[in-house]
Amino acid sequence: MAQILDGTRTAALVKEELRQRIARLGARPVLAMVLVGDDPASASYVRMKTRDSAEVGIEARDFHLPADISQDRLNALIDELNADECVHGILVQMPLPPGLDEEEVVARISPAKDVDGFHPENLGRLLRGQPAMRPCTPAGVMRLLDQYDIELDGARAVVVGRSNIVGKPQALLLLQRNATVTLCHSHTRDLPAICRTADILVAAIGRAEMIDASYVKPGAVVIDVGINRRADGRLVGDVDFEAVVPLAAAITPVPGGVGPLTRALLMSNTLEAYQRRLTASLA
Ligand code: GUN
Repeated sequence: MAQILDGTRTAALVKEELRQRIARLGARPVLAMVLVGDDPASASYVRMKTRDSAEVGIEARDFHLPADISQDRLNALIDELNADECVHGILVQMPLPPGLDEEEVVARISPAKDVDGFHPENLGRLLRGQPAMRPCTPAGVMRLLDQYDIELDGARAVVVGRSNIVGKPQALLLLQRNATVTLCHSHTRDLPAICRTADILVAAIGRAEMIDASYVKPGAVVIDVGINRRADGRLVGDVDFEAVVPLAAAITPVPGGVGPLTRALLMSNTLEAYQRRLTASLA
């Protein structure tokens, strides 16, 4: 039976460390969160991020805008937040309602305040191996792997899914740690066979329980980034947990795996944005 990689416990450790560091600052980093429209899932994510902020001592400022807001008005709010010295991190919850351009929004946020790590400059810096704000989900996966002392150097890692926010940066972060990385996607041939070469398999596809036992080498570490709601209402990952747990060495559950770490790393990025700004203003 696989060891369960406990994301809730690891996130609690990360947040406790952040809470202590922020308490020592004697000031509260400020995170501006912009929610456009009334998508219930997005609203629920923002609520959870607000709760995490309160736990660690970050001040969350919520900006709730109507779904029919114009691109110009949204851009104007981002410009205002970029210019506001009291705001250290900016997050615009995705997806945006139809008619709004996500690429434009991502590129408009100041890279120094881009706590999601989505800005082209931050992604470019990541590609070049320079210090950068790292996207929270893949950074959270790395934190979880480190928490459980999973050897990355020389390991074969397979990432399934090539999104800009998970798959691509995940591959880069694993590469930085000297894993041999294969990045797979919907056009990949013989996907199960490639996945079976993985010592570390990261599933970030967005298809409920697609990764079954035929994709997993006995003894592999399986990281499930997916969050899918089944017809019966149950939350499941991209991995068929019951089928894979008997043969994996270690596996993340859903919920309670990668999700809580994504939010903990958002808090960590917000503190980093605060500290970098402070260092820049002292220099
Ligand atoms: N929507 C789903 N995940 C995310 C995330 O990590 N950041 C933002 N801004 N929106 C999201």
